[in-house]
Amino acid sequence: MYYKDELVDEVRSRNDIVDVISGYVSLKKKGSNHWGCCPFHNEKTPSFAVSQNRQMYHCFGCGESGNVFTFLMKYENYSFPEAIRVLADRAGIALPEIEYSEEQKKKNNYKKRLLDLNKEAATFFYMQLRNNPHGKAGLDYLRKRQLTDETMNRFGLGFAEKNGGELIAYLRSKGYEDKEIKDAGLATFSEQRGLSCLFWNRVMYPIFDLNQRVIGFGGRVMGDGEPKYLNSPETAVFDKRRNLYGFQYARSSRSKYLILCEGYMDVISMHQAGFGQAVASLGTAFTPEQAHLIHRYYQQVYLAYDSDGAGVKAALRAIEILRGEGMTAKVIDMRPHKDPDEFMKALGAEAFQARIDQAENSFFYEIRMLERNYDQQDPEEKTKFYREIAKKLCQFEEEVERENYLQAIAEKYFISMDALRKLVMSFAAVQGDVQPVQRPKSGIQSKDAASESTKKAQQLLITWLADSPGLYAKVRKYIVPDDFTEEVYRIVAERLFEGLERGSFQAADVISTFEDEEEQHMAAELFYGKLPPMDTRQEREKTFHDILYAVKKNSCDRYAKLQESNDMEAVKKLFEGRKALLELAKTHISLE
Ligand code: UTP
Ligand code: MN
Repeated sequence: MYYKDELVDEVRSRNDIVDVISGYVSLKKKGSNHWGCCPFHNEKTPSFAVSQNRQMYHCFGCGESGNVFTFLMKYENYSFPEAIRVLADRAGIALPEIEYSEEQKKKNNYKKRLLDLNKEAATFFYMQLRNNPHGKAGLDYLRKRQLTDETMNRFGLGFAEKNGGELIAYLRSKGYEDKEIKDAGLATFSEQRGLSCLFWNRVMYPIFDLNQRVIGFGGRVMGDGEPKYLNSPETAVFDKRRNLYGFQYARSSRSKYLILCEGYMDVISMHQAGFGQAVASLGTAFTPEQAHLIHRYYQQVYLAYDSDGAGVKAALRAIEILRGEGMTAKVIDMRPHKDPDEFMKALGAEAFQARIDQAENSFFYEIRMLERNYDQQDPEEKTKFYREIAKKLCQFEEEVERENYLQAIAEKYFISMDALRKLVMSFAAVQGDVQPVQRPKSGIQSKDAASESTKKAQQLLITWLADSPGLYAKVRKYIVPDDFTEEVYRIVAERLFEGLERGSFQAADVISTFEDEEEQHMAAELFYGKLPPMDTRQEREKTFHDILYAVKKNSCDRYAKLQESNDMEAVKKLFEGRKALLELAKTHISLE
């Protein structure tokens, strides 16, 4: 943190959020909120609410939320210190020299060291490509792939030569320690050989985060070596699940939709051809976290995955994840070419745009891919196929939408509408409740779904307590901030509990505990959890109890795992946790 909490809070409280946002968005007061059209996604009817009481904003359409700092960071693309400076100026507050607390200093410094180190490494690779005779192989390679110098510069491309040792020498000369070089994922360490570089004889693609900081690298081998692409491991600053290649530019493209593809070169080719809204996931499968990130800027995603079997599989999965995030997807057909890069080279940007315009609705695509698994000449197989269609139709929550798809599919596959509808109803009945369909909450099942649902419980608990501070007295016996497993959640819980203990709490201030825009967003979201509809007091009490129990149980499970590695602190915490959990199970918490 650059400034003391009190000062940050003062700057925030002297800049009324309604005043500030009114400078950007036209707002109308209705009920307790001021409403306007969300500046962060395309919409015609206002779902963007600014609350004067809470000093926060929240879009009910795209889920974007935060305080006055978050707004400026996102709208103006400011860093946290920039946003503070602007708002301090606006309120006539003089800012002192930057102050740090000891602990913050250490932690921030370490991440900052790694980021600086990455930047040095990127610079080194960049220079190698351009100014070093060894780099010529890389430059020739990239030119052969028809990249212009401008494109290479824009993406900061570089080269790691055959003798990787030079990078290490360079970083040491810049004052970095071996441990830091290793922690940044640029080298491995062994007793016999000491540090050895991870990347050599590769063209280097630095990976940037939203704020244009280098967080990792991808490297492509020259020629046919294995692996074709080598990626930095996850580090303190590189979280593959939460970043996308090319997003530092794609976040502010003027397009209505994002293009998602598989490879580094695909992204670069598309950007060079004028499709600045293209991104790729980072050498791993597309994740719900990435979908969530995209959703902050886009409502619709066009998939430009490879046209091979693996690409189809990846596309089907991405569709599911995007649907779980409440977004719509379309699929671009690149055949007969393999990927966007090859397509662009063969047919050019105009032809690519035409393919975008013809992109297939993701549901039709799913059904078409499903169709390939069944022999349509065999009546039995055909029946099975229809059953699968019916099952998939169940996923549409809204009746009108389901009916529209049902009609379209029935026509396309020559099925009688009535028969198909009956089939859908029968599956809906099997699935159990009156509401025939449930939108999958997270795109993936099993492990991730479990962690998604406990995260959800943690969020709902914070929302609930912030809305009804009186409940705190009833739960403080059972729940401690450590029960919140996400780092951001835990910090929010800590501040929330402290505030409730004192009897005063301002959510908008908690948000500016975080400097990072993505973390602010995560924190703000915690105050906008969507509780299920509950009509009676009994229902509310049961839901509340379930949430408390889920949070505590998850926390105990985590300590149980840690305990296995002989962590004494964990043993103690587990003991306390289990006791509280048992107590909680027996207790009725009244919400009167
Ligand atoms: P592809 O194998 O489809 O390669 O991998 P590509 O993008 O067409 O590469 P070029 O055109 O031959 O250079 C697609 C993406 O999958 C990841 C990389 O992100 C790559 O861009 N990948 C692939 C890896 O991480 N490791 C690998 O060994 C291969
Ligand atoms: Mn390719």
